[in-house]
Amino acid sequence: MNISHIEHLGIAVKSLDEAIPYYENILGLKCYSIEEVADQKVKTAFFKVGQTKIELLEPTSEDSTIAKFIEKRGEGIHHMAFAIEDGVASALAEVEAKGVRLIDKAPRKGAEGLNIAFLHPKSTCSVLTELCEDPNK
Ligand code: CO
Repeated sequence: MNISHIEHLGIAVKSLDEAIPYYENILGLKCYSIEEVADQKVKTAFFKVGQTKIELLEPTSEDSTIAKFIEKRGEGIHHMAFAIEDGVASALAEVEAKGVRLIDKAPRKGAEGLNIAFLHPKSTCSVLTELCEDPNK
């Protein structure tokens, strides 16, 4: 697989309303999009830092994986997402062949219309890892 850059860092927060002012007023970043991803039961807020984004994740339901993460580990960095130049499907096949445990066996739609898939933290030195590709690129 060919990773071009860190596409985004996913950060679990209890409240976008409470977190966004830190990123805007203290760090001087601009929230350019807020989007609800219904099937992941999260509301997301995006900031750009160069080529990389910060994706704040607020749970919209108590059974959201983000709600469970915050309950167990508190707010903070939840996952790291790599931009894959040559396709998420083939990257998944490649790492699965190398014995990596997959959360998603096939790419699915994530925020911003990206094709995404998660690798299991048991196989990624405990960092929940997302592979992304922009289908419009
Ligand atoms: Co993500």
